[in-house]
Amino acid sequence: MGRLESGIMIIAQISDTHIALDTPDAEQRIGDFERTIAAINALDPAPDVIVHTGDIVHNGRQDEYAQAVAILATARAPVYVLAGNKDNRANLRAAFSACGYLAPDSEFIDYAVEEFPVRLIAVDTLSRGSNKGDFCAARARRLIGLIDAESTKPIAIFAHHPPFEVTVGPDPLNFETPEMMARLREALQHTGRVVASFSGHVHRAAAGHVGNITATVVPCIATTLRKGDYPAHMKRRPVYHLHRFDPLWGFATETRIVETEPSSAVFGGRRH
Ligand SMILES: [Fe+2]
Repeated sequence: MGRLESGIMIIAQISDTHIALDTPDAEQRIGDFERTIAAINALDPAPDVIVHTGDIVHNGRQDEYAQAVAILATARAPVYVLAGNKDNRANLRAAFSACGYLAPDSEFIDYAVEEFPVRLIAVDTLSRGSNKGDFCAARARRLIGLIDAESTKPIAIFAHHPPFEVTVGPDPLNFETPEMMARLREALQHTGRVVASFSGHVHRAAAGHVGNITATVVPCIATTLRKGDYPAHMKRRPVYHLHRFDPLWGFATETRIVETEPSSAVFGGRRH
């Protein structure tokens, strides 16, 4: 019996690649993204799917998306993307339209992926007005509709902004108002079938709960933007998460650190 037939699946989650072509660290951001996809391609067992939880690019520009699409085209596993606060819905949708899972005429970038043992639901928390998250009543209705569209499988939710307070940072609330985060938390608990929530945005590892739902944050792939304390030898090594679902035990999350070329930071200036 194959892994998926037994109900087991592996999700690779990456986030916050912030591709920008006009910044001094542009090459580093591209390299971090490329090395991460290469590392995921080399995994054994291979993941069933890769989810990018937003801030794919930094300025929402078409040329930035073209770069991101080219890098993601090298991935062996199918890729699904979300909108972060730095993304531009129209340009993101245009860049990834060929993938077929983004509705061309939808106001929001939210959708469900049905072909795995766990349903994957992408939530749109992008705000027009700020870098913080927005979750309006219309989006809550849409999320509840996506949850209700199937009644047997467990669900993993992907949302750029974490639906819990991240206390190690400048501001624990990552939504514009506490009411917006409360609205998302309430919708996530609708029917009890959501078993995990996976986010990005804060560029550091974090974990919390939404009722009985485990909620985690993956650090950013862009190493120059990463927050939190990491040893010097990790300075150029992106971090991503592998979420393995087992129908008996639920989700287990593993942190993966991408190998990188020997650098002067590691080897004292001499390349081996
Ligand atoms: Fe963000």
